[in-house]
Order: sequence, then C-alpha cells, then structure tokens
Amino acid sequence: MKKKLVSMILATAMVAATLVGCGNSGSSQTTAPAADAPAAEAPAAEAPAADAEAPAADAAGGGKVGVAMPTKDLQRWNQDGSNMQKELEAAGYEVDLQYASNDIQTQVSQIENMINSGCSVLVIASIEGDSLGTVLEQAKEKNIPVIAYDRLIMNSDAVSYYATFDNYMVGTKQGEYIRDHLELDTAEGPFNIELTTGDPGDNNARFFFGGAMDVLQPYIDSGKLVVKSGQTDFETVATANWATETAQARMDSIISANYADGTQLHACLCSNDSTALGVANSLEANYTGEWPIITGQDCDIASVKNMIAGKQSMSIFKDTRTLASKVVEMVDAIMKGGEAPVNDTKSYDNGTGIIPSFLCEPVFADINNYKELLIDSGYYTEADLQ
Ligand code: BGC
Repeated sequence: MKKKLVSMILATAMVAATLVGCGNSGSSQTTAPAADAPAAEAPAAEAPAADAEAPAADAAGGGKVGVAMPTKDLQRWNQDGSNMQKELEAAGYEVDLQYASNDIQTQVSQIENMINSGCSVLVIASIEGDSLGTVLEQAKEKNIPVIAYDRLIMNSDAVSYYATFDNYMVGTKQGEYIRDHLELDTAEGPFNIELTTGDPGDNNARFFFGGAMDVLQPYIDSGKLVVKSGQTDFETVATANWATETAQARMDSIISANYADGTQLHACLCSNDSTALGVANSLEANYTGEWPIITGQDCDIASVKNMIAGKQSMSIFKDTRTLASKVVEMVDAIMKGGEAPVNDTKSYDNGTGIIPSFLCEPVFADINNYKELLIDSGYYTEADLQ
C-alpha cells in the first residue's frame, strides 16, 4: 500500500517534471561527480570555440549542418537523427545526416566529408569520446563550431557546446529506484544486487554508473546490499559497445557462479536498455528465483514491452524530441552569430576545459506512469508496444 502511494506520488511528480523537460525555465539539478550545482541558463562565455567567427550562414538563414550519429543499431539514435533532420529542415537548413555503424574510422571519415563539403556547424554523437581530436582540428581551422550531442567529445578544444540529458541524474534516478523499491532504509535485508554499465569509451557511462553508485554504495558498505559476484568497479562491470549479447554473456557467468543454486537475486542495476535486455535474457534462460528489479534507460520499445510484461522494472525516459529541439535552437543561435543557450558551465570538463552545456532533465518510467509519459505524449502509439 505504502509502496503504491509512493509510486503514485513519484509518477505524478515525474509527469510534472517531464513537462519541464528541456524548457528554458527548467532548473538543472546536475551534480556531476565532484562538481558544484551548475548555474542556470548562463551565457556561453567561455566556450572554447564559441568566439570563433560566426559560421557561413546565408542571409536567408540557411546553411548546411552536419549531423553525425553513432549507429542505427539502437533505436534511440534513429529517433535522435530523424528528429533533428526534421527540425533543422523546417528551420531552413540543409542537413547531412550520417550513421557510422559504431565504427570509429567510419565516423572520422564522415566528419571529414562534412567539413570538406561546406557544413557550417557539426552536431556529433561520438562513438568513442577520445577518437575525434585529429579530425576536429580541421573543423577548428575552418571555424566550424562543434556541438557534442548526448556524449561529450573528450580532449578536443574544437568542441564549442555540449547538449545532453543530465547523465549523473540518470544514474541517481536508477539508484534511487532500487533504494526505494527494496526499501533499503527500513527493510532488514541483506539484498543481492549485480551491476552492469555501458561502454568504457563513452563518457556518459561513467556519469550513469557514478550517479547510481553514489546512491547505492553506502548500502553496499553497510552490508545491506551484497554483490555476490564481487564485481563492482567500473571497468569490470562495463559493457563494450553497450552490446546486449555482451551483457547477456557476462550475466550468464555471474548467474552460474552465484545464483544457479536458487539464491535470490533482488536487483540488477543496468545503465541502459540494451544492457538491461541482455541481463533479462540471461535471467530468463538461467535463473529460477523470483524476478529481480531491473533498471534501464531510453524507453526503447523492446524494454517498454519488457516493462509491461514484468521483466524490466523501470527505464529512464529521455525524450529525444526535446533534446533535438534544444540542439536545433543552439544551431540556429550559432548560425545567426549569437551564443547558444546553456544551463551548465561547471559539470563537463572534456580535458581541455569546461564545455558549456545544456542539460535536459531525465525522468523515470515504470508500469505506473509509462502510458502518460510515452503514449499520451505521442512518443509511441499503443500499437508500437504490442
Ligand atoms: C546514451 C544512452 C544510450 C547509450 C547506448 C549513451 O551515451 O546516453 O541513452 O543508451 O549511449 O547507445
């Protein structure tokens, strides 16, 4: 009963939060590891390349925008790309949208082509944050501003802005979901938990995992949460390329070594839906105990279906429409010679300095609120989820 009430209150709060979303009035609660709360909507005064000359937009406002996405394999990047293309074209821009099949060299050549074919701004969701320094030097030489999209591009001073969801908050919401649903503050425990995060070359994965562990670590330290596999450090629980099969194979070994005798597993922290899917597949094949809490992120259709079927407990909803709109606003401001809107100038240092960022607010979806968040908002139709 108490649980239900808490869920209802949370659901209402979450829906309200969604309405705030990326809106300019939305305050940001980011606390990236070891960073202060960011200033709200500060001007991008110290953008490394923002003081470059305004890009070559024609008088009518047009111009070409390069949009580099990592892969078509994951549902979200298809949505991100097509939302952005639609909105940029509606705003009068030509769009060069490319997907790189998660291959770093392919992404580098695509960006090189964008630079040489006259793009005035680049929007890049990197495959590996550290691999674009060299190609982006060419962008800097040509005064082409770069917006890092969703994932921060590391160690390059060519990056002008960063637009993303609040990645640390994604992690804390996942950790809090586990804390609240296991009632860790009051229940006796101990409870068994296993941890799975994302690609080690994706800066976001460290924020997701860091945020979740900031909530969960005290309970592990006190013995209320037990990680029977002993696998708790980032490198060990990481999943190369965020691949479902890799997460599944790792979970197969964890189950056979620790839970094959029917030992109860109470929770699986998974940083996103593709890893959650792997963990759920493994549990389905190998595990006989009561189904654990499983977290996720993205509200991919397969995971929302699992949520409805009781096989995934929650997912973080990051409305890609909102992020795309914000980035279009940023592009438009840059193309018109102005400064892009940002709301965080403290949290994201890419190794060359702080990158002025706009952080959208993520919310959690579960069985109690997914209809309002995902269907009523037009993100999915009922039929998509059948
Ligand atoms: C994104 C997540 C996504 C993951 C795998 C991360 O950088 O923020 O939304 O699930 O990459 O593609």
